[in-house]
Amino acid sequence: MKKILPFLTSLKIDPKKLPKHIGIIMDGNRRWARKRGLSVTEGHKAGAKNLEIIIKHCQKIGIKHLTIYALSTENWRKRSKTEVMGIFNLLLDIFRKWKKDYSSQGVKFFVLGNFQAFPFKVRDAIKNTLKLVLDKERIKFNVALNYGGRDEIIHAIKDIIKDSIPASKINEKLVSNYLYTKGQPDPDIIIRPGGEFRLSNFLLWQMSYAELYFSKVLWPDFGPAQLEKAIYWYQQRDRRKGK
Ligand code: FPP
Repeated sequence: MKKILPFLTSLKIDPKKLPKHIGIIMDGNRRWARKRGLSVTEGHKAGAKNLEIIIKHCQKIGIKHLTIYALSTENWRKRSKTEVMGIFNLLLDIFRKWKKDYSSQGVKFFVLGNFQAFPFKVRDAIKNTLKLVLDKERIKFNVALNYGGRDEIIHAIKDIIKDSIPASKINEKLVSNYLYTKGQPDPDIIIRPGGEFRLSNFLLWQMSYAELYFSKVLWPDFGPAQLEKAIYWYQQRDRRKGK
């Protein structure tokens, strides 16, 4: 009997050569909303809804690590109060929902970044989700919140100094172990929907050998079929890694 594959599209994706770790820069929520005459918060809501669909699809097809850039160190300092409040309220709803759903779905949740500066309620909801114990882990899901790649490297350097590590012991493996992604493989592919061709301070250390995929599709419309297109594209790349 022919085995039914979990993929949505007819693209010839090789299930044995899936990226282990996918990083996504969610971009285009506000433009998506403006095009429809909706508020910025509605755009972020649509983005969050799409994120849930993408996490489920990643689980279904067998991706083991997913990292999402949700909020940069600059975003929440530089955007209007109304927008930031809208994002915090959304985060609150989402984390409460995830707390209910994720242990049974096997989603192990991590935060990359410093969320200590967030309002108490949001911090509390995040901490409760982080504490979840799973029946069976299927995917590691990292959310970058108040995250910046340079900030992460500075944080690592400070911790290395605090731990009095001698210069002779400092190597790539050691530095990787001081980053927020400690113990996880580097991303194989970074996906940026939304039409911009930049990396915006995302996973600067970890993306050294990642394939970079850019798409014009705005994040709320970047669904499972778009994700499969990116994975298929990734599988056509010749990953020499310096060889
Ligand atoms: C990028 O689009 C999106 C953001 C800066 C915020 C995203 C935050 C959420 C969707 C909140 C939910 C978070 C989680 C973890 C579910 P943009 O606002 O830069 O859009 P634009 O490029 O069209 O201006």
